[in-house]
Amino acid sequence: MALTQSGSARDGWSSRTAFILAAIGSAVGLGNLVRFPAEAGANGGGAFVLFYIGCVILIGLPVLLSETLIGRHGQAAAPESYRRMAEQSGASTAWEGVASLGVLSAFLILSFYCVLGGWVLYYIGTFFFDIFNTGISGGAFAGVSVEEVEGIFPAMISNGLVTSILTAVFLGITMLFVARGVSGGIEKVAVYLMPAFFALLVGITIYGMFGGAMSQTVEYLFTFEPEKLTGPVMLAAVGQAFFSLSLGVAGMVTYGAYVGRNVNLGVTSGIIATADTSVALLAGLCIFPIVFAAGLAPNGGLGLMFQTLPHAFQEIPGGSLIGFAFFIMVGFAALTSSVALLEVPTAWVIDRFRFTRVVSVIMVAFGATILGVLSALSTGVMSGFHPLGFLPLFEGMGVLDTLDTFTGKLTMPIGALLTSIFVGWIANKRLIDSENGLGGALHLFWRFLVCWLCPIALTAILIVGIFPSLTE
Ligand code: PFF
Repeated sequence: MALTQSGSARDGWSSRTAFILAAIGSAVGLGNLVRFPAEAGANGGGAFVLFYIGCVILIGLPVLLSETLIGRHGQAAAPESYRRMAEQSGASTAWEGVASLGVLSAFLILSFYCVLGGWVLYYIGTFFFDIFNTGISGGAFAGVSVEEVEGIFPAMISNGLVTSILTAVFLGITMLFVARGVSGGIEKVAVYLMPAFFALLVGITIYGMFGGAMSQTVEYLFTFEPEKLTGPVMLAAVGQAFFSLSLGVAGMVTYGAYVGRNVNLGVTSGIIATADTSVALLAGLCIFPIVFAAGLAPNGGLGLMFQTLPHAFQEIPGGSLIGFAFFIMVGFAALTSSVALLEVPTAWVIDRFRFTRVVSVIMVAFGATILGVLSALSTGVMSGFHPLGFLPLFEGMGVLDTLDTFTGKLTMPIGALLTSIFVGWIANKRLIDSENGLGGALHLFWRFLVCWLCPIALTAILIVGIFPSLTE
């Protein structure tokens, strides 16, 4: 593929649909498919799910609209967009620091997100070869013991060479699309892969409806037991909502900067949040029937996708083909998100240093690969290296978990908190109102959420995230 200069940092989406698909592509990712079901599993099912939906509507959606609005107004890389809005509102230009923090977060998340992307590539390959070994009539991995199937995961993550190479491969694929610019690459990947993703997700879910334990799943995901709604469960739900909607990392600001003036951001934000939440719920309805039908427990953590599910695919007819299709689907979702994560720092490098897009992409991806390899090694040979282990929040954590916690519990909520304060209290009201596409009562409600609920809730999240003992 020739890397063309078809897009400078300032080319834009070719249509409203392209923007919506790209933004949904950014939002829908490993967070929906791996993290949401795992968090629901670890946090007691229905209570988590219903609280999560509330968080998306009352906290996530207002911040999503705030971010896209700042980007569309600024028409520049995220820090410049914050600066422009601050200047035009007579506020300190130091507010651009919020976006700079977001750019840093996106870079850090990109580095470890591609490690997980690499794991997904490994499973795509594993199931692909299993189709030839096992055939497609019975379950996957014929003649292989359960211990061996569940052992694929620990063996893979402790093999630093394999995971490092796959991290670089995943970043390389991401780079090819981002290097082609907004309309020539980033939008193309979303326009082709998102429909394919939806088709696979719906197809596998329907399979689960007929072959799997659907009623047990629905009961598990939607039975609300108030006593399960504890502090840590609520915290997990809010954090997940932010990660899932790609908020607090300047990602939606960056995508918003490529949107035309004629697009109603209030409506598009609603569509993006609805699609993202529907995919998270569908992921639950897709994964748990297969797990329950195999008689397995819906436990949390990465083991759900990388150990429990492969075991479940062993038990169901057509397991290797369904497993292959499943991990292809996860790979598509991960790629449209990693493209967004790479675009955020790339757009900043282009704006700040005036390098060409191709040079900027290569520089950012190179840095992310180095950090990514450290994350990849942290589940193997470097597992004893705890870079911030002297701080209680990061105690006992390797590079990957440290970066995940640093961004998820600190920089993302800080970014989102400051953004809601900026839009709610600092920026010029008329400027904001001319961009948000809302009218009447909805507008007033959004203002209330951005000015009051979001800052209060996000402050609480930050405090509890840093001092978990407060909720015990
Ligand atoms: N929202 C993505 C997911 O759920 O996997 C992760 C993500 C993508 C976060 C892009 C931030 C971002 F800018």
